[in-house]
Amino acid sequence: MMELFDVRLNIDDHPFSKDELIEAIGSCDVFVPNLTNQIDAALIAKAGPRLKLIANFGNGIDHIDVAAARAKGIVVTNTPGVLTEDTADMAMALMVAVPRRLVEGAAMIQSGAFKGWSPTHLLGHRIFGKRLGIIGMGRIGTAVARRAKGFGMAVHYHNRRRLRPELEAEVEATYWESLDQMLARMDVISIHCPHTPATFHLLSERRLKLLKPTAYLINTARGEIVDEEALIRMLAAGQLAGAGLDVFEHEPAVNPKLLTMKNVILLPHMGSATIEGRINMGEKVIINIRAFCDGHTPPDRVLPTSG
Ligand code: DGY
Repeated sequence: MMELFDVRLNIDDHPFSKDELIEAIGSCDVFVPNLTNQIDAALIAKAGPRLKLIANFGNGIDHIDVAAARAKGIVVTNTPGVLTEDTADMAMALMVAVPRRLVEGAAMIQSGAFKGWSPTHLLGHRIFGKRLGIIGMGRIGTAVARRAKGFGMAVHYHNRRRLRPELEAEVEATYWESLDQMLARMDVISIHCPHTPATFHLLSERRLKLLKPTAYLINTARGEIVDEEALIRMLAAGQLAGAGLDVFEHEPAVNPKLLTMKNVILLPHMGSATIEGRINMGEKVIINIRAFCDGHTPPDRVLPTSG
């Protein structure tokens, strides 16, 4: 970026304060935020006349009011595709780690509590042969489906649109038009849809209650998609077997009740955190800026969602 443009960097990567955000968008031509920067309509109203492009360093754009940006003639781009495999790996890792109690096992070793094998020692649950329900069958959902197939799981999915028949056949996935009906029949649910106004609390208390008490919930997408309070109540009451969460409803705050639970694995939003992925994201940001500055439509332009 420094070779190509006149750049001001947030060198220590601290989350910008409101004043810093206002200062940045008031003075630059291109702003490169990430998911920790809330770019709402009020902030966009304060954008300077030079700001023409918000080139997000990341895939999710739920922290940006894309419609407000568009109304002000500001183009928004993101970095799709390059986080897919890493995020799918993390979902799969949680899918194995929660039912097989990997974190409990590692803690036992570290605390010196391991006194030898026994037949009932740290028994978990098998995922081979179980039914996985994927919510959101875009790039990441499909990448999870491919992995899950290799783990011997039966893959099911709910998506706004059904996959093309060739792709559905390739990943051997069963489509459920009704999310409610799918939820009631799955052993593991993994969330891979974006957070939009339409998916806020998609897994509401009512829907969570449709899950089998033996089911596990994996979320590597966005915390806001799940009613976290309802999830916690159900986990505490044994109405759900466990959860693997890489994202939280009020991130970076984590509900303290979750911290005391044995049947959860909590990760600090690290699903895409690989060096390779971050380099790819940076390259995508640069390509988008370059294309835009050269007068082309940037390849990863984001348009406002219809809901
Ligand atoms: C994104 O880019 O939206 C991811 O959540 C970062 O991990």
